[in-house]
Order: sequence, then C-alpha cells, then structure tokens
Amino acid sequence: MAILPLVIAPDPRLKTKSEPVAQVDDAIRTLAADMFDTMYHEKGIGLAAVQVGVLKRLLIADVTWRDDGGPGKQYVIINPEIVQGNEKLNSYKEGCLSFPDQFADVVRPETVRVRYLDLEGRQQEETFTGLIATCVQHEIDHLNGVVFVDHISSLKRDMILRKLKKLKKAGYFEPHVHGPDCNHDHDHDHGHVHDENCNHDHNL
Ligand code: NI
Repeated sequence: MAILPLVIAPDPRLKTKSEPVAQVDDAIRTLAADMFDTMYHEKGIGLAAVQVGVLKRLLIADVTWRDDGGPGKQYVIINPEIVQGNEKLNSYKEGCLSFPDQFADVVRPETVRVRYLDLEGRQQEETFTGLIATCVQHEIDHLNGVVFVDHISSLKRDMILRKLKKLKKAGYFEPHVHGPDCNHDHDHDHGHVHDENCNHDHNL
C-alpha cells in the first residue's frame, strides 16, 4: 500500500503518449493497488498511470466509492481500445487530480464500448454509460497525452494553465501536513455513493 505523488499540470509527461503494458505481472498489480490508494486518498474517481509518473497504458476507476472509505465497483483497465462510441453526447463538468480545483464542461459520447485487459491479463469488452463512460474516456485521453482542458476553448485552457503554473511556482502543491494555516480548501466528506446525479464536482 502506498500513496504516490501526483503529476500536476503543466508537466510534459501529461502530454506524452503512454506505452502499452507488455505483460500483466505482479509489478502491474502493485501499481494498480497503489493507484487505488492514491485515488481514494485524493478523493478522485479515476486515475491514469501517467498521473503518478508511470507512462504505461493502465487506468483505474471507481465512480461509486463512498466518502466513509468504502470502495465501490473497481475497474482496472489495461491497454484499452475504444471499439465503439455512441453518437449521443453528454456534457459533464470534469475535474482532474492533475489539475487541482479546476473544472470545465466537456462534451463526450454518453456511451462507449472498450476492449481491454484486466488484472489477470484476460481480454474483456464492456460497454460503459454515464459517469463511468465519461471517466473512462477522460482516462484513456491521459494515456494518449490528452487532458480534459484540450477539449475546451484555448482561452479557458490558458487561464487554467496559467493559474496552475503560478500555484506550482509558489509551492502550493508540495506535499505538506494540512493545518489551520493552509490557505487552500480542504475536501469535505459527503457520506454517500457517487453517481451521475451528484450535484458536485468529481475529479477524474
Ligand atoms: Ni484526469
């Protein structure tokens, strides 16, 4: 079990295409477990390996965890391929653990069919709809060096990146112990199962 440091934008790794996983072995299974620890700790619902600095085509998702620490349905998706997208589009206010406190509406297909390898190296094919579909597409983008702000206007994108650059320079994202002197917001607990009807933001 380990909580890994996150890659925060702007960072060239977030623009880099990740390499396929050659073999699903114990090292990959440990990485996936550490990514879940990290994602729950940071209160995200999805995480791509590149976000913890590993440029491999692996992502995890759990859009139904509860704030009291209960894991929901966990997905580990390795070497994913989108085999089919729906024409029906869905707009969702996305956030990203690599873009702390930044959110923007992104339009994506509402349903997507994905072929991938699971943690045992078996091939799977699954159709995702709703929040999990948004999440999986957001994470597959990460594996291709694409981030959610690439889907919004350049004006808004530049604004977000400028802001993060400034905060990064000021050491805002350096690991630290939270205390009453922190000048940033702390995550609060909701105590419920997350789904697409939540009226708050989710980090992907
Ligand atoms: Ni993200």
